[in-house]
Amino acid sequence: MTSTSHPKGKALLDNAHKHMPLGVADSYRYWGEQDTVFVKSMKGGSITDSDGNVFVDFRLAYGPIILGYRDTRVDQEVISTITETGTISGFSTALDSDVVSLVKTLCPNIEKMRFANSGTEAVIGAVRTARGFTNRNKIVVVEGGFHGLYDEMMWKSDVDNWDSSTQAVPEIIPFGVGIPESTREHLETVPLNDFAALNEVFERVGHDIAAIVIEPIMGNCGSIASSQEYMQKLRDICDSNGSLLIMDEVKTGFRVAKGGVQELYGVKADLTTYAKAMGNGYPVAAFGGRAEVMDKIKFGPDGVTHGGTYTANMIALSAAKATLTLLKDTDALKTIDKVGADIQDVLARVFTKFGIEHKFAGPNAMFGVHFGSEVPQNYRDWKKTDSDLYTKFAHNLIKNGVMLEPDSREPWFICEAHQTVDLAWLEDVATCSMHDALNP
Ligand SMILES: Cc1ncc(COP(=O)(O)O)c(C=O)c1O
Repeated sequence: MTSTSHPKGKALLDNAHKHMPLGVADSYRYWGEQDTVFVKSMKGGSITDSDGNVFVDFRLAYGPIILGYRDTRVDQEVISTITETGTISGFSTALDSDVVSLVKTLCPNIEKMRFANSGTEAVIGAVRTARGFTNRNKIVVVEGGFHGLYDEMMWKSDVDNWDSSTQAVPEIIPFGVGIPESTREHLETVPLNDFAALNEVFERVGHDIAAIVIEPIMGNCGSIASSQEYMQKLRDICDSNGSLLIMDEVKTGFRVAKGGVQELYGVKADLTTYAKAMGNGYPVAAFGGRAEVMDKIKFGPDGVTHGGTYTANMIALSAAKATLTLLKDTDALKTIDKVGADIQDVLARVFTKFGIEHKFAGPNAMFGVHFGSEVPQNYRDWKKTDSDLYTKFAHNLIKNGVMLEPDSREPWFICEAHQTVDLAWLEDVATCSMHDALNP
């Protein structure tokens, strides 16, 4: 994108610099002085920027949009709830159990649940509950996974600056300053699909491992997925060690299947976190799982504390009720699956035309695109893919009216409204974008 293509956006950014660090409300929205996007409106599978440029959007706000932007079926439910009932009162409503019941219908291994306002909060609640239940401290996480912006989860493997030709492991670094070293004390990091690394951690500190926290399909790492065997290994090692398995389904939940990744793998978590697709863009999140574990949330010195002013507010819950009902009763996810497959066919034809080795990772509803000869098995493998070419390609797609994150670690998200995308147009746009990426 050039600055001349969105002068109004540039003026909005200049003004916003007076009010917010980087001129944005969330640092990841800052794409530089020329390319930061200001949106005027959203509808279906598209967004329109402040200069009137329309984009077919495969970024979908990092995943929450599952039906489409401004889906009237969801919006009407929210409007009637807040106009007829209200938003929050600091008391319970019948809607709380209505939504949990819906989740339980879709995800049969959820026995009890609590709500949260963001994926981060849901993860905090699940981890605290697991620690309270097991009376242990340590949490095992997977390289390339992302579990929200709270200090303990803001340590990452520095694969960007890692030399993949060595045997050295990537350094673990914080997401910037302000994160005390002490928050790392109880965190253990393993590469995905690496059985030996998992065994090693459990042999070394197993007695203090409260839980493994994993995105079984890494929605923050190009949809690189656990193998079936690895998922079973996680379940078995947790069971034999008295640890809990927490599946972070903030991105995959109610998206990759009605029952999320647990339906795909047939492996059950003790606790699961949800957010994003649960409310089609309204801010709702939850964590839940085995009743015995969740019932550790109680008063008293041996109880886990959970709550919050906005927890289970009726805006969020009415959106969740409408969205989950639609996902349960319609073929929306089947439609999404087909559209995602069709789009991958289009992209595959384009890449093949240019002789580019490529692999797709993950399910059709949120697939990763990797330029290389193998599907990456973990974050370190991702480093071997040609992510620079992907970024050039993505920037050209954006110039040509296709919005996505210009980083191959972020998957392509599909929503039901994408069924109207003109695939012939997309093929032309992808062809031009790849041509220009290869011939700058
Ligand atoms: C798997 C996963 N967990 C947790 C989070 C944090 O969610 P939120 O941004 O709603 O706090 C995210 C956000 O992208 C996520 O993808």
